[in-house]
Amino acid sequence: MRQLLYVSSRPPSVPEVSVGNILMISRRNNDAAGVTGLLYTDGTRFLQVLEGDEEPVAATFARIKADPRHHAVVILSDRTITTREFGNWSMAYRLPTDEADTFDGKVARLLAGASDSVRATFTGLIATRRTA
Ligand SMILES: Cc1cc2nc3c(=O)[nH]c(=O)nc-3n(C[C@H](O)[C@H](O)[C@H](O)COP(=O)(O)O)c2cc1C
Repeated sequence: MRQLLYVSSRPPSVPEVSVGNILMISRRNNDAAGVTGLLYTDGTRFLQVLEGDEEPVAATFARIKADPRHHAVVILSDRTITTREFGNWSMAYRLPTDEADTFDGKVARLLAGASDSVRATFTGLIATRRTA
């Protein structure tokens, strides 16, 4: 299986992104494709993990990457896994106001080799959550 982690951000030209709509479509498509994962967002930045068989993950990511609701998509981690590490949710969702949970530590470990700015982006999202 493939596990992909990326970050992206909302372009200034897009005033607001309906996360509810993204989740609804994601859950339908991901469920059908056997893709699971997690989406963190504060409405401006997105951090998403996708897990599943190579082909459906590649196809899902290709669609996501082409979506004009976000840009500057950067892959932070792309690896082979034997079991899903982020559960069986077709797309779990984490809001800035949610309690910190074990996913935070898992994402943080995936970012061990990432650049300082990327780690700062993630830490920023998480810090928002912890202090919310
Ligand atoms: C941040 C972000 C995350 C997304 N995540 C997913 C996803 O996990 N699965 C998915 O099918 N579409 C996801 N989308 C939506 C896709 O970009 C695309 O709009 C959708 O897959 C099209 O589905 P449809 O052809 O069934 O309408 C995401 C979009 C954004 C902006």
